[in-house]
This record gives sequence, C-alpha cells and structure tokens, in this order.
Amino acid sequence: MLILSFDKFPVLETERLILRAISQGDVPAMFYQRSKRELMEYISIPLLKSKRDAEDLVKNYQFLFEQKISISWAITVKGSPEMIGTVGYPRISKENYRGEIGYSLDPAYWGKGYMNEAVGEVLKYGFNNLKFHRIEAVINPENAASVNLALKHGFVKEAYFKDYTFFDGEFWDTAVYSLLASNYR
Ligand SMILES: CC(C)(COP(=O)(O)OP(=O)(O)OC[C@H]1O[C@@H](n2cnc3c(N)ncnc32)[C@H](O)[C@@H]1OP(=O)(O)O)[C@@H](O)C(=O)NCCC(=O)NCCS
Repeated sequence: MLILSFDKFPVLETERLILRAISQGDVPAMFYQRSKRELMEYISIPLLKSKRDAEDLVKNYQFLFEQKISISWAITVKGSPEMIGTVGYPRISKENYRGEIGYSLDPAYWGKGYMNEAVGEVLKYGFNNLKFHRIEAVINPENAASVNLALKHGFVKEAYFKDYTFFDGEFWDTAVYSLLASNYR
C-alpha cells in the first residue's frame, strides 16, 4: 500500500509559478473563482454561493492534507502571493497506487501555458515522490482545454461513459484518461 509520508507541505516551483499549500488567506480568491460559471462550466460541482462555502472548502483541503488523504496546491505566479488556481490529487487510492489529477485556473489567466507548467510539475511529484503507478484524469468530453492539456502530457483515453453523471438537471458524459508510470517520460 502507498504511504503518504508528508511531514511538511511540499512547495513546488516551475519557471513562472510557485505551488504552495492552500490557506485561509485564499478564501476570497477561492470564492471568486469557484463561484464563476465560466470556470465551473464542465465541473459537476455546485458553484460556491457564499464566503462561508469558500471557508469550508479551504478547511476541507487542509483537513485532507493533514489526514494524508489527498493533496492539492494553490497556484501562484512568482512575485505575487495571490492564488490564481488549484492543482493536485483530490482523490488518491493508496491501495491501488493511484491518483486522480484535478486542476482549475482563474479565467483571467487561461491560455498562457500556466496549467501546462503546473501539471508538468505535479505529475513529476506524483510519479517520483508519491510513487503513483497510475494517474487518471476524469474529464467532461466537451472540455476541450482540459482534454488537450491531458493529451499534451501523455494521457490516453481509456473510457467514455455516456450519461454518467446527473447534475444540474442533465445527464453528462464522462471520459477517463490515464497515464501510467511506465509511460511517463
Ligand atoms: C483546463 C484549464 C486548467 C487549462 O488551463 P490553461 O492554463 O489555460 O492551459 P494552458 O495555457 O497551459 O494550455 C495547455 C494546453 O491546453 C490546451 N488548451 C488550453 N486552452 C484551450 C482551449 N480553450 N481550447 C482548446 N485547447 C486548449 C492547449 O492544447 C494547450 O496546449 P498548447 O500550448 O500546445 O496549445 C483551464 O481552461 C481551466 O481552468 N478550466 C476550467 C476548470 C476546468 O475545467 N478544469 C478541468 C476539470 S477536468
């Protein structure tokens, strides 16, 4: 079984970004981002409705890390402490050496290659430090940005489930992409 032996939060660095722990100071940014329909268009999770919801979400991220259940990072641009998005492994199956990657970015920062950098570093950490055997991405097939991002990092499509999730009065299709440690370059 995989052992998540975090003693302190692993801060990661890319050319332009610092990936750090999500903290209470991120509540306003979390609320701003996760209450935006544009950002949540392809994610079957309700929009945040209040600052209180954002506080609970931040506390939950902290709890999941402290309990060694999962890990997510706040994305910041070097030189500015503001959280512009999140990336991480919101679901980890220790028994199966498997993590599910998740990512979201404030729309003001889309299309600049930021998530490409963040995902590259988080995959490296997932395979080299967390010792995942398999990382998967569960994506709404209409989410072209997310599909292209996953493909760019070597994920392959494994499954397509029709009408898989009932959300907001509709059935949504879901696609599952995977990247195995043996195919990671
Ligand atoms: C998905 C998301 C994180 C991409 O972030 P980003 O920083 O804009 O992505 P990047 O600029 O790093 O681009 C990475 C690749 O994604 C693809 N991409 C980005 N935006 C795209 C778009 N609107 N349409 C098609 N492909 C797109 C490109 O192929 C790009 O590769 P390239 O550099 O070779 O062109 C961002 O669109 C987002 O936060 N969406 C809302 C949240 C979400 O849906 N998360 C995923 C849930 S599964």
